[in-house]
Amino acid sequence: MSKTIRVLFLAAEAAPFVKIGGLGDVAGSLPTALRALSETETGGVKLDVRLVLPLHMVVRTESATLRPVASFNIKRAGKDLNVQIFETRSGELAVYFIAGEPITTSGSVYSANPALDGEKYTFFSLAALEMAKHLDWRPDIIHANDWHTALAAYALQLKHWDGDLRGTKSLLTVHNLPYLGPDLTGRLSAYGLPLAQNDLPEWARAMPLPLGLWSAGKVVAVSPAYADEMLTKEFGAGLEHYLAEHKSSLTGIINGIDTDYFNPATDEGISTNYTLETIKERAWNKTALQTTLGLEVDASVPLFGVVSRMDTQKGIDLVLDALAKLKTDHWQAVILGTGDPTLENRAKRLAEKFPNQLKVEIRYDGRLARKIYAGADIFLMPSRYEPCGLSQMIAMRYGCLPVVSATGGLKDTVRHGETGFVFEGKKAKDFLKAIHDALEIYENKAYWQSLQRNAMAEDFSWKKSAQEYTKLYRSLLLHEGF
Ligand code: GLC
Repeated sequence: MSKTIRVLFLAAEAAPFVKIGGLGDVAGSLPTALRALSETETGGVKLDVRLVLPLHMVVRTESATLRPVASFNIKRAGKDLNVQIFETRSGELAVYFIAGEPITTSGSVYSANPALDGEKYTFFSLAALEMAKHLDWRPDIIHANDWHTALAAYALQLKHWDGDLRGTKSLLTVHNLPYLGPDLTGRLSAYGLPLAQNDLPEWARAMPLPLGLWSAGKVVAVSPAYADEMLTKEFGAGLEHYLAEHKSSLTGIINGIDTDYFNPATDEGISTNYTLETIKERAWNKTALQTTLGLEVDASVPLFGVVSRMDTQKGIDLVLDALAKLKTDHWQAVILGTGDPTLENRAKRLAEKFPNQLKVEIRYDGRLARKIYAGADIFLMPSRYEPCGLSQMIAMRYGCLPVVSATGGLKDTVRHGETGFVFEGKKAKDFLKAIHDALEIYENKAYWQSLQRNAMAEDFSWKKSAQEYTKLYRSLLLHEGF
């Protein structure tokens, strides 16, 4: 009989239940991708992965039934705090939701108040571990994600679990290093977690992500390039020396995308489906997008697309500067996203300057996003740093060629001159030059189409990444005979 590795996957958000950013996409698809691996693909083990999420107020469970499966107390400042566990399914995947007072009190998924968030995610991380004692299911691996759940690795390292979780190992995926989480001095001791002697820099000793980095058996960055960048002053968020000293437990695994959901051949949200072979049909989607946005319908004008959080991390300011400075006025563009109000306003002002060329849509709209991937010609993504980035991969899958900065996952997924355009440098002028290069190539239709075909032929499915994660799980459990 083959062995089974049981993985408890912890995240603050996961599609389709609750999705704010890229973490929600990853936590919504990686657990399922892991479960879907055959034993030949895992090298002979089975993976029993289960997801655990906070039961945020905004969680969408209309279509699913939540079954109560456990209720127990944990201690906070000497008093009992009740935890309730509910279970549901997402396809084949078992999903647990944790409810309790700190989760209800905080209201939103990520609060603007760091104290509320600190309380909520400390509670969640500990309750998730404690849950294992109350289910008839002991995880071999605790897979935490970002600062919100990093404390689960810390608690596992610190506490003596009276047999229940002895032997359980931990892995922490870092989706965005600078988000270290709030200082939890005070919170930790209230929950019975002392501050351990550790070799973290003094200022980081009570912060959840650093504590997770200190305690996790393996640390995974969401791309190999970002794993390297994390060791530098520019991207290391003050932890570069610490990480460099512990380099041996750090690796990078690129994220995948949900290639069934993001599939131009079957996507019902776009006007005309197409494949690599029928790429000419793609043009109908450009016409439809121009019509939807109120832009002039013109097949020959290059149409830029941006789908992004409005954030300086994403280089939205660089996009606005570059569009204002293009040396031609033969272009159209659409920017879709929400975020920083200053950037939102700057974008709206630019749209007023170019009313016939630039449309700015300040909202989150998954359907319009797919119409943009399918209808725009060039996808702009000049991120200042990008741990992985998912939209450049989605854009390529739909034949929309990305212009990206040479950082993190962008560098690892876009092949310059073959599937898109990658530029070095940080300034608007570097980006502008890359856009002009792309525009020049765009005029050569046959050549452009060959690049589109290359991009669409890339394999961004989760399988390879899921296999890499499996290897890491196994290496953590080596002594257990996996
Ligand atoms: C964060 C990162 C992004 C990554 C995503 C999923 O949002 O900023 O680069 O793609 O997490 O890992």
